[in-house]
Amino acid sequence: MTAKTVPVDSFDLVIFGGTGDLALRKLLPGLLRRYADGQIPQDSRIIGVARDRQNGAEYRARIGEALEKITEAEPLLRARLPAFLQLLDYRPLDATREEGWEEFGELLKTTGPDRIRVFYLSTSPNLFVDLCSRLRDAGLNTGNARVVVEKPIGRDSASAAAINDAVGAAFAEHQTFRIDHYLGKETVQNLLALRFANILFEPLWNAGRIDHVQITVAETVGLEKRAGYYDSSGALRDMVQNHLLQLLCMVAMEPPATLQADALRDEKLKVLRSLKPITATEVSHVTVRGQYRAGASGGAAVPGYLDELGRPDSRTETFVAIKAEVANWRWAGAPFYLRTGKRLPERVSEIVVAFRPVPHSIFDASAGPAQPNRLVLRLQPDEGVKLWLMIKDPGPGGLRMKYVPLDMSFAEAFGVHQPEAYERLLMDVVRGNQSLFMRRDEVEAAWAWIDPILEAWEQLPEAPKPYTAGSWGPNAAVALIERDGRTWHEDTGT
Ligand code: BG6
Repeated sequence: MTAKTVPVDSFDLVIFGGTGDLALRKLLPGLLRRYADGQIPQDSRIIGVARDRQNGAEYRARIGEALEKITEAEPLLRARLPAFLQLLDYRPLDATREEGWEEFGELLKTTGPDRIRVFYLSTSPNLFVDLCSRLRDAGLNTGNARVVVEKPIGRDSASAAAINDAVGAAFAEHQTFRIDHYLGKETVQNLLALRFANILFEPLWNAGRIDHVQITVAETVGLEKRAGYYDSSGALRDMVQNHLLQLLCMVAMEPPATLQADALRDEKLKVLRSLKPITATEVSHVTVRGQYRAGASGGAAVPGYLDELGRPDSRTETFVAIKAEVANWRWAGAPFYLRTGKRLPERVSEIVVAFRPVPHSIFDASAGPAQPNRLVLRLQPDEGVKLWLMIKDPGPGGLRMKYVPLDMSFAEAFGVHQPEAYERLLMDVVRGNQSLFMRRDEVEAAWAWIDPILEAWEQLPEAPKPYTAGSWGPNAAVALIERDGRTWHEDTGT
């Protein structure tokens, strides 16, 4: 079957933070792609909202310029840009002031109460409460409205609850789409297909057959232009609480009865609630936090975190490694090693399922050792799946064994453009499909596991461990896994 684009119904999408980084880098380019693919009807409206004083024409010109740069190498996309820009409009609004909201309401009402309306909160979370109450008071939450909440959803359980309460006071849970863009990545959904559309893996998918799982999300970038946000957040809040834990859930969950949003989310929630709490006494043993020092990235010298930040005293972690345990029947005894960091040697996100060794070898020592199978799901770049197997080294000369991957690169196999996570997720919001979005209780359960780690770290006298930019993090992260007689996965080629 080939990929098929199914158009969505016409919609009005309001992007609060319409001139912000996310809108320019992800949301609007994603919408342009979906539009160019014929998925977005021409009478849809995309309304940017921000505080800047400008009119619709000025906004279109500004966005047009940004999108032209992004589409430089894609003539087909570029050709559709002028028509796409016609969908765009702009309203200057301040969430904290009355002015302009009535006119904004009038603008929305012109398409009628049954129109699909999406309010995308792509602003600083401090504005979520004000924005939601404005939308509610202006009567803009019609039956077909949905709200999209970007991360960070809080910085701990209490602040997450405050955000969820504010959103919940204006929108019902079935209207609320909490984005974790990792769930929109193609390979994450492929994990569902691999696990639940094949009989091969499920009988082996437990601690009896799986030794451990590794989840790595490595980035080469440093602070980018987000110093303020990042320094108050750190890698645990920015990446682990959401992206890595969601990936862990997709690997560890029981088979849901259907793909319906709540069936899926119920299973993920059970995993989050099964995570063994990390206590203050063991935090130094099972977690590592690091901060990069000057080094090199992409062949160029880069400054350390503190210099990049311009503050000598920050204890914010830019790297985390954690040994997590899912305390249930399926996973007891098979830990999940998580690691993520900035300024690592390459940009790579992957899940490694490391199986146990065969119970007994029938081969002579001369055949070489039988290495345990590994299933490696690569999220980015070069999305694909590798299943590492032992085979006989071909040719004469006795029976020698060789460890090789059954290798499927999605780009090579299908040659199609993989939609970016945001493209898929935006269309899911319009369709009203919540399967790839987080329910309130999931966010809360994730924070409930993260909170004690954060608190324990705060009590530690020592600062995050330094690592050189361009390395794989502090040595302690290697020790974390090697203490257990295991190693971080390295792709040794074929
Ligand atoms: C975001 C984090 O959620 O994910 C960023 O806030 C991070 O710090 C980004 O760089 C990574 O996303 P991706 O899709 O590039 O792996």
